[in-house]
Amino acid sequence: MYDPSENAAADIAAHFHSFTNLAAHPEVGPLVITKGDGVFVEDDKGNRYLEAVSALWCASLGFSNERLAKAGSDALRGLPYYHTFTGRSNPTVIELANKLLSVAPVPMSKVFFANSGSEANDSAVKMIWYYHNAIGKPEKKKIIARLNAYHGVTVASASLSGLVTNHRDFDLPIANILHVDCPHYFRYAEPGESEEDFATRLADNLEKRILAEGPDTVAAFFAEPVMGAGGVIPPPATYFEKVQKVLAKYDVLLVADEVVCGYGRTGEMFGSTTFGMKPDILTTAKGLSSAYAPISAVMVNEKVYAPIARNSGTIGTFGHGFTYSGHPVSCAIALETLKIYEEDNVVGHVQSLIPQFWKALRSYEGRKYVGEVRGVGLVAAIELYADPKNRTSFDPAAKAGARLVEIGLTQGLIVRALGDTIVFCPPLIITAEELDELFACFERTMAIFEETIG
Ligand SMILES: Cc1ncc(COP(=O)(O)O)c(C=O)c1O
Repeated sequence: MYDPSENAAADIAAHFHSFTNLAAHPEVGPLVITKGDGVFVEDDKGNRYLEAVSALWCASLGFSNERLAKAGSDALRGLPYYHTFTGRSNPTVIELANKLLSVAPVPMSKVFFANSGSEANDSAVKMIWYYHNAIGKPEKKKIIARLNAYHGVTVASASLSGLVTNHRDFDLPIANILHVDCPHYFRYAEPGESEEDFATRLADNLEKRILAEGPDTVAAFFAEPVMGAGGVIPPPATYFEKVQKVLAKYDVLLVADEVVCGYGRTGEMFGSTTFGMKPDILTTAKGLSSAYAPISAVMVNEKVYAPIARNSGTIGTFGHGFTYSGHPVSCAIALETLKIYEEDNVVGHVQSLIPQFWKALRSYEGRKYVGEVRGVGLVAAIELYADPKNRTSFDPAAKAGARLVEIGLTQGLIVRALGDTIVFCPPLIITAEELDELFACFERTMAIFEETIG
């Protein structure tokens, strides 16, 4: 017989958690999720929650898609595993690579597979270094990312991430990874500065930084179309247009990290399309398989691929890849996910929900503790402030964001707090009725928060 209290004790005894206050965990205990049903999940005590963040911005098709379960089990019974080293391949990875090239937002040449967003970004960093050695520019190695970016947790990806939590006491970032301005207009614009002027200032700062470092030393610029874990920060108007002009001037590659934005989240198939980005390299994960299997992809254009391929001929190999790169089960699930996005017109469905989603979100503007409501498509954030008019944040000791999340759980809702920023990133299959339910739960949550936080 399954016993939730024993389960909690067993978790505390043995499980080293991700992104958790490990010292507090024995007191707080785990939230053990046992099943999923569409946009809902259920815990081991039978409580049901509307999952308004798609778990970690990833379960785009919800938590009980039969087609994905079948694609996975069929693949397991067909070819459960083979690798992709030394030219080995399998039909599913071949089909998936071709499918991805056909949906890519800009012309891409080849697709490399890994297992997570972090691995995809680490792979992209290594490709960029290898590429510059291949074209005879071994000094062009520095990579620029942005403060508050999130690109993952492996050594290079965590270094790209511009968040203190990912660096502090991990001895990161590594050398040659630099950070420039966070494009958060509400927080960092100067008084009276328009979005366009803010974007111009940031692009100018980027240019100054490249010149200060020496353009011959700067290899690439990494950017999420919408910054996710840094607080759901869409770019200010004209930002990528201006940034890309600077990158082109100094021959700096652009990497679009589409790990959150890819596959419909912004209301288009890719965030690059929404914001006019023309990346040389594009990384994706999460929605690629709707999180039903670990898989990520790095798409590279011919400009990047051709010298890499040539150089591997000289050396004898491209010495990078994972045991599970192109895993046939993950690839089968990703292929089925892409088919569902297409056949069910998931992007069209997202577009149809956007007015309702934003009407509900905008209704929180001007609420007692709401400073800013921001986002795009079906990803949004509400930032809580103690005194929004004076832009005074809550005392961190109040743990306002975490408190709201806790209240949400009592109201059948899972939202996520990034500090005091509350994130909404519901499964893309959410219906209009379920969106109403989401905001009904959130309204109850907010009302209790307002009553109890003061
Ligand atoms: C934009 C972005 N890039 C990379 C990652 C890292 O992905 P993973 O956790 O699969 O390594 C994430 C994860 O949230 C992400 O949001």
